[in-house]
This record gives sequence, C-alpha cells and structure tokens, in this order.
Amino acid sequence: MQKIKSYVLILLLFVASFSLYADGDEPKGGGMWLPMLLKAMGNEADMQAMGMKLSAEDIYSINQASLKDAVMIFGGGCTAEAISPEGLILTNHHCGYGQIQSHSSVENDYLTDGFWAMSRKEELTNPGLSVTFIVRMEDVTDKVLEGVSGDDAESVRNLKIANNISKVVEDNIKDTHYKAQIKPFFYGNEYYMIVSETFEDVRLVGAPPSGIGKFGGDTDNWMWPRHTGDFMLFRVYADTDGKPAAYSEDNVPLKPRHFFPVSMRGVKQDDFTMVFGFPGRTQLYLPNQAVETIMNVNDPIRIALRDIRLSIMDEHMKSSDKVRIQYASKYAGISNGYKKWQGEILGLTRTNALQKKKDYEAQLTQRINQNPEWKEKYGTLLEEFELLYKEMRPTEKEYEYFMEALFSIEPIGFSRRVEAALGSASEAKQTQVSSEELQPLVAYATYFFKNYHQPLDKQITIELLKAYREAIPKDRRPSTFKKIADVYKNDIEAYVDALYKGSMFTNENLFEAWAKNPTIESAIKDPMIALSGELINHYFSAIKNDKDKQSDKLDRLMRDYMQVQRLAFADDKKFFPDANFTLRVTYGRVEGYEPRDGVVYDYYTTIEGIIEKHDPDEAEFNTPKRLLELYENKDYGGYADENGELRICFAASNHTTGGNSGSPVIDGEGNLIGINFDRGWEGTMSDINYDRSLCRNIATDARYILFVIDKFAGAGYLLEEMTIVK
Ligand code: ARG
Ligand code: GLU
Repeated sequence: MQKIKSYVLILLLFVASFSLYADGDEPKGGGMWLPMLLKAMGNEADMQAMGMKLSAEDIYSINQASLKDAVMIFGGGCTAEAISPEGLILTNHHCGYGQIQSHSSVENDYLTDGFWAMSRKEELTNPGLSVTFIVRMEDVTDKVLEGVSGDDAESVRNLKIANNISKVVEDNIKDTHYKAQIKPFFYGNEYYMIVSETFEDVRLVGAPPSGIGKFGGDTDNWMWPRHTGDFMLFRVYADTDGKPAAYSEDNVPLKPRHFFPVSMRGVKQDDFTMVFGFPGRTQLYLPNQAVETIMNVNDPIRIALRDIRLSIMDEHMKSSDKVRIQYASKYAGISNGYKKWQGEILGLTRTNALQKKKDYEAQLTQRINQNPEWKEKYGTLLEEFELLYKEMRPTEKEYEYFMEALFSIEPIGFSRRVEAALGSASEAKQTQVSSEELQPLVAYATYFFKNYHQPLDKQITIELLKAYREAIPKDRRPSTFKKIADVYKNDIEAYVDALYKGSMFTNENLFEAWAKNPTIESAIKDPMIALSGELINHYFSAIKNDKDKQSDKLDRLMRDYMQVQRLAFADDKKFFPDANFTLRVTYGRVEGYEPRDGVVYDYYTTIEGIIEKHDPDEAEFNTPKRLLELYENKDYGGYADENGELRICFAASNHTTGGNSGSPVIDGEGNLIGINFDRGWEGTMSDINYDRSLCRNIATDARYILFVIDKFAGAGYLLEEMTIVK
C-alpha cells in the first residue's frame, strides 16, 4: 500500500512538472493557450519551470482580480492593457494610427510631431473607438452541439448551431450590460462563450512623433533588429458607477479591476516572458495541399497586386505632403500584408514546411490505419483534401484577383454604403433617401474625401483592371470587361476616365449636389454604382457558389482532420486551438536568433542603432531633434541599462500573430516589461508553421516607453499614476 502510494506520488510529480513536454524540453511548437485552461493543460507547471512566479489563478480567475482584467481588445483588431488605476491604457502607435491621423492636419500635424495631453482636459475624444474587457470565458460545447448529428448536412448543422447559440447567449446576458459571443474552436469540435464589457469613451492621451512611434516605417516593418517606440497612450472613461457610457463631460476615468505595474528592471537573455492578448488568426493544422495553395496561389497573387497599388501611392505621396498625410494609414495597412506574405513564403520554403507536413501526414496515416474505428471514420480524409484542393485552386485564384484587384477599388466601398441606403429607401417605397439615412452618409463622405486624391486612385484603378484582364480569361470576367471591349474599344483608360468623371464617389462636388436632393433615380445613374453592381453580379454568378460549396466541404473535412490529429497524437503533444481573436496566453524566453547561415541576431537594440539609422532626408528614418539632443547629452534619466545604454526593443520566442499588437509583454512576476508590436520577417510563417529557432516576437522595451513619456515629451506627470517597479 505504502509503496503504491509513493509510486503514485512520484508519477504525479512527474506529470505535474513535465506534463507538456515528455522529454523535459521547452515548447518547440509554440502555443496560444486558453487562459482558463493553463492549469488543466499543464502550462502552469511548464511556465513555472521556466521561471514564472505566478499561478494560473493569478493570470485568469473569475473569482478575484487577475491579469486578464487588465487586458482588452482595442478598436477593431489590436490589444491594449491598463497601466494605472485611473484608466490609463497602453497600445501600439500603429493601433492608434487612425485616431492620431484623424486629429491631424497640415497645420496641426500630430502624425509628424506627436501629441501629448498635459492635463486630462486636453485629452482628445475618438468617436467610434472602443475597448472591450473579457468578463469570463466558458466551454459551452455541449449546449451548442445539442441536437446536432454527424449525418447533418453542413447547412443543417450550421442552422442548428446558430439557433443553439442565440439561446445560450440570451440566457447568459439577460439583465446585464454585458455582451456574449460564442466562437468555434478546433474547427467546430468545441465552442466557447466569451462574455465581455465594452467601453466607448476612449480618449487620446499621448502619442510620440512618427519619427519614434513609426521609426523605420515600412522598410523596417516585420524586421529585426528594430528601433521603434511603437506605443500610444489612451484613457478609458466610464460613468460615475464605473459602467460603460457614451462620451460625456461627466464621465470619469475607469478604475480597472487590475492594471500592470511597469518594470524598470529590464530584460536579460533567456528571461521568462509571456504575452497576453488577442491573436487574430493562425492555420497551424492544415494539410499539405492547403499550405501549398497558400504558397503558390493566394500569397503570390496578393503580393503582385499590392505591389501595383503601393508603387503608385508611393509616387504620389513623395510629391505632396497633403497626399502623404491622406494616404499614410492606407499605405501602412496595404504594405503590412504585402511584406508579411513575402516573409511567409520565404519561411515556409526555408523550413521545408511542405515536406514536414507530408512526413507528419504519413505518420498520421499509419496511426489511423492501426485503429479500425479511426480508419473507418477518418481513413479517406487525406485523399479527400487532395481532390478538394484541386477543385479549389482555380477558385482561389479568381477569388484573390476579384478581392485584391476589383473589390479593392476604393470608391466601390463608398458606393456600397449608398446602395444600402437606396435599398432601404426603395423598400420603404420612398423615392429618395431619408434624412436619418443620409446623415451618416454625408459624415462618411466628409471623412472619405478628406483622405482621397482622385489622380492617385484613378491610376490605381486603371492598373488593377489591366492586371485583372491579363490574368483572368475572357469568359470568367465581370460584364464590365465586355463593355470595355465593345464601347471603349478595349481602352481601359478611356473607360476609367468616364467612370471617374461621372461619379459622385470620386468627386466631392457631385456628392454634395446629390446629397441636396438624394433621389434613388439620380443615384442609380452613377457609373460607380453600375460598376459595383456588375462586380457583385459576377461574384454571385461566377465565384460565390463554388466558394461556398468548397468551404462547406472544407469545414467538414477540417473538423474531422483536426479531431483525428488530436486523437492520434494525444500522447505526443498538447493541442491548442488556432487563434480566433480570443484571449490567449503565449510564453517563451527573451532570446535572439540566427536568421540565416553565419548571421546571429542579439536579443536587444539600443539608441545607438537609432543614430546609425537616422537620416534627415528619409522620412522613415528621420529622428526628432529632441531625441538627438538627449542622445548627445546622454540624458537618459534613470531609464538606461546598468551599463549606461538606452535600450529600445527586444526579441523573444513568444508565439504571436496579428491582433497581438499592443499586447503586454510580462515578466515572471506579472510586471510589464514591454509592449508587443511585431514579428521577425524570417518567422512570419509562424501562423502556419511555428519554428522556435526562427520565430520571434518583437517588443518595445518598457524603459524606452517611460523615457519617451518623461524625458522626451515632458509628460512625466503620467508616470505618477503608474506603479513603477525598480
Ligand atoms: N507588422 C506589424 C503588424 O502586423 C506592424 C504594422 C504597422 N506598421 C507599419 N509600418 N505598417 O501589425
Ligand atoms: N503588428 C501585428 C499586429 O497588428 C502584430 C505582429 C504580428 O503579426 O505578430 O497585431
């Protein structure tokens, strides 16, 4: 008896400390873990073994304040974190970029010069911006899949699930001001409910000049070594009860349930670190055919078409300051994907991702074949993928061309808003758009034309239509191209000329004239509305059907494929669900990497690198004078490292993706040591194939943030409300 007991104890100890990695090794496969499962999945033990002093309960708890209460969704796709008991929050400069841009003009160029509120009164309001905290997350798989059977057609299954979801959501939020959302995990094998609380009064507190916040621009984007102070400060306001409220002068700073102390201790090689945030999307469990399609179809088409748009924008932005400001945010957005996909192809190629997938699939097949039940249920999956992807590749090509070359034409997006209003007017049997419906359109038009330069846009449209015509065969194009052939004798420029001359979506005066008398009859004569109609028609008649059928099949196959991977490799590794913009924890170490043969990257950068890169003639590398002065005088306050260096950024092996921008990078005690903002180029394939030897997240060092606020901007009063850890 005694013997058995100690045996069990030893076994338990063994399980507790080495539960994730049987050989005692550290994570090699990355991981974006669900915060409420850190204990159950064995991450807690793993993290503690790596140097974390916290417990899983400190990170996520529904009974007491925990780190999760300081982490929030910022705007549409970033993360932010509370850093004071008075609602002060930190996110990336590139996350608040749209806000700082909208407060900027040629006279008041906050984008270039930065903005600092020197008192609460000076903070700037941001209509449309919100932050969302997570109240709790809960496994609701059983309720969501109630009544669903394996034999259901996808459409039937989806309908049953949608009905179950609305019931569960309803039950959980009634009588509260919370929202609830239920999302599929593991391709619909599991469902979790996320209960959340959204605040809508979020004010801009401070932003460094672009020469700090966007230092290195698109040249350095996705690159290590990096020297960007990619941060911005906002403040969340609530009503006097601490509840969400629309902007009001009477609102008061929110008291978050938790906020991060900011560490001045700095980071060392191999320090434990974790990142807490909202990673958007990964695809780590795909079959080889899917990876091949991404590498050879989706990514290359997107890259080629964005190249066209970016070089035209670049030309116009270089020759006019006005256009530069107008298109700064759009350019950054388009180029971000453009560069990432190039890194992705490079990384997948270099790490032999395709062959690795095939080897893994061979192993999987062997295991499936040894288990009669699996063989019966999952035995044909890989062949089915082969057939499906054969069918999908041409559709994917047409879809990418449609989205990136046609649907990306900017005024189309604007015209679709007006079309929606025309639709509801005609449904209500009116001859014109009602004033309630018109008002937001007029507001949108003001915003649209503020950032619109017709000659630039027109040139892009011409080149995109040409690229599309070259790639897509005649019988697979929208009717627009027949019109171009018949009416315009194949002259795309002549067609676009007429389109841009006659449309209210490319001429502000025409829009204003229409808005005075917003009849349906006059609007539908607009050539942009005609084009948009032709595109939509084409999408519905030539693409959507195939795409829907394929994605139904793919959903079913991926659900089974995910499940059989989890079954067949249950003893070899722990699975985490692909990122889906829900709250996740990832952890790793502070470390550099070897990007290619013979090259070793250190894990941190210093202000010396800013000085090396500084170039007053290159907007991307033009360092603010004040920073140069501080450097000359070595006036770093207390923010330099022990050896006197001022550190700027560091790299670490946390598995992150888009959406993790602005996420807190946290030490083993729960202090903020940096803010996440990017990944190294050689490792952007981590969305599909994580490789610890190459994949790094990039963060701005917390000490540089404090230095910029205090020494550079003279807004040191903000540090008084923070808890600074020395
Ligand atoms: N690559 C980072 C991310 O994916 C930063 C993007 C913004 N910066 C830029 N230079 N475009 O969001
Ligand atoms: N910059 C990314 C974002 O906006 C984070 C970097 C990444 O994709 O890892 O979320």
